[in-house]
Amino acid sequence: MFTLRPARDTDRAALYRICLETGASGEDATHLYADPLILGHVYAGPYLTHAPQFAFVLEHQDSGDVMGYVLGAPDTAAFETTLEREWWPALRGVYPDPLDVPRADRTPDQRIAHLIHHPPRAPQDILDPYPAHLHIDLLPGAQGGGRGRALMTTLLDALRAAGVPGVHLGVGESNVRAQGFYRHLGFQEVRRAPGAVTFGLPL
Ligand code: ACO
Repeated sequence: MFTLRPARDTDRAALYRICLETGASGEDATHLYADPLILGHVYAGPYLTHAPQFAFVLEHQDSGDVMGYVLGAPDTAAFETTLEREWWPALRGVYPDPLDVPRADRTPDQRIAHLIHHPPRAPQDILDPYPAHLHIDLLPGAQGGGRGRALMTTLLDALRAAGVPGVHLGVGESNVRAQGFYRHLGFQEVRRAPGAVTFGLPL
C-alpha cells in the first residue's frame, strides 16, 4: 500500500509538513514552532532543491499522500558551500539573526533562525570517512513496517552507485528509537556531544 519513488518538486509542501510533524526527537513539533515552515527550510527544502537525485519519498497508494522521506547529500562539504551561496541568503532576509537574545532565552524559532545565519560545518574528521549525510522521517502511520529500512536501502544504494565511500547522520540524544534503528542497520556511533549523537556507516 506504499510506493517508494524519487521525490519531485511538487512534494515540497509534504516534505516540510513531515519534517515539522516528526521534528521533536521523532515526535510532532507543530506546537513548538510559530512558523510552520522554518524547520523544513533547514532540514528538507535544501535537499530537494540542491540534491534532488538523492531524495526519495514514500507515497500512500490509495490517497496519494506522501508519508515519509529520506534525503541525502553525497558530498556534505560541497553541499554546505552551495547552500552558503544559494540557499541561506534569501532566508536570512526573512528570519532575523537572534544574536541579541541570550541563547538560553531563545524560542525554538529563534534557535532555528540562528542556524540559518550560522549553519555549522561538519568536522573534517567525520567527512573524511563519511562524506555524505542524510535525514529520514516517516509519519507515524508509515512507521514500524520495514519502510524506514526500504528508504535507507534506496538512498544507500544511490550513494554507493555515485561512488560515495561513507555516510554520516546526526540524531538528537533523546531520540533513542531512531538511534536503535541506525545501530540495527549497522551504523556506529562516531561522536557524542551534549544533545546530539553522530553515527557513521562505510558504504
Ligand atoms: N531498535 C532496534 N531495532 C530497531 C529499532 C530500534 N529502536 N527501530 C527499528 N528497528 C529495526 C526493526 O526491527 C527492523 O528490523 P528488521 O528489518 O531486521 O526486521 C529495522 O530496524 C527496520 O525498521 P523499520 O520498520 O523499517 O523502521 P521505521 O519504518 O519505523 O523507520 C525511523 C525508522 C526512520 C526512525 C522512523 O520510525 C521515523 O521516521 N521516526 C520518526 C522520525 C525520526 O525519528 N527520524 C530520525 C531523525 S534523525 C535523522 O534524520 C538523521
